[in-house]
Amino acid sequence: MRILAIESSCDETAVAIVEDGRRILTDCIASQVALHREYGGVVPEIASRKHIEAIYGLAEQALENTGLTRGELDAVAVTYAPGLIGALLVGVNFAKAAALALDVPLIPVHHIKGHIAANYLAYPDLEPPFLCLVVSGGHTMFVDVEDYTKLRILGGTRDDAAGECFDKVARLLGMPYPGGAALDRAAQGGDPSRYPMPRPHLSGNPLDLSFSGLKTSAVNLIHNAGQKGEQIVIPDLCAAFSEAVCGMLVPRAMLALEQTGRKTLAVAGGVAANSRIRAALQRETAARGVRLCMPPLSLCGDNGAMIGAQAYYEYLAGNIADQTLNAYATRSM
Ligand code: KG4
Ligand code: ZN
Repeated sequence: MRILAIESSCDETAVAIVEDGRRILTDCIASQVALHREYGGVVPEIASRKHIEAIYGLAEQALENTGLTRGELDAVAVTYAPGLIGALLVGVNFAKAAALALDVPLIPVHHIKGHIAANYLAYPDLEPPFLCLVVSGGHTMFVDVEDYTKLRILGGTRDDAAGECFDKVARLLGMPYPGGAALDRAAQGGDPSRYPMPRPHLSGNPLDLSFSGLKTSAVNLIHNAGQKGEQIVIPDLCAAFSEAVCGMLVPRAMLALEQTGRKTLAVAGGVAANSRIRAALQRETAARGVRLCMPPLSLCGDNGAMIGAQAYYEYLAGNIADQTLNAYATRSM
């Protein structure tokens, strides 16, 4: 089954064609990151306009790359939630029109389920159940993937997402948006002990997290140093901050494995590219005999292929939409 998959929830317009949920025939992306960079973050109105400009051409490009005709597509899938509402609407309306014109089923896909499904593309033998650590610019959560379409959130951030914090601190250090990867590079060789960072403990669910205190503490440190005319040792601060985020995520991922008894841990989302987090996950899972799935970086960030992968299983479960499909800025899985 060949699915044309559309993703437009944030600042990447993406169109892919995926076969049977596991094989990427083509994965086309038009990134808007450079456009948003001068504003230090995504400007929703600009994002919507750029999606409109890019989407049709990308779909044509996807067909051209594969040599497939329109008649050889069996379904159209689209991210319908969560994300920037204007941006999502562009993809949803395009997908509705395409499904109608091609006379094929329309499959709605939740963005986070898509991120998790990137693992099916990278690991053809991976099947639920498994545990997934989702860490992106907008989301941080531990998800028990009981089945392809049955997912349970075990815990997650109560305020900011991990990626948001990386980007905020990176921005204050003068790194261009989104600065997570640059901060990660700057942290190489840094001494994390120079700047002690808070590790907040919340009452209630031990798998819940809060990043706002950590973010504020790093922000204050940078501001105070600026006011006193002191130089921040950038590699040390980046190392301390990365170490603190890692120290909040990795032990909780291990606790979630213990709680569920799962023997496989998958990761999803752009922050999964972080070298410290990757190394810690490798170390800790190896010590427990747990299989670790970490998709390549190209599949960790937003892309169309992950939506096509999840769509196949949504289709098998009978989750098909009609022309009344709407987009939602927030929506549970
Ligand atoms: O999943 P993603 O591409 O977009 C969302 O759906 O949010 O994640 C993007 C986030 C950004 O915050 C970016 O700074 C962060 O992932 N990121 C990193 C690294 N590479 C990307 N954060 C820390 N270390 C990295 N190496
Ligand atoms: Zn995403």
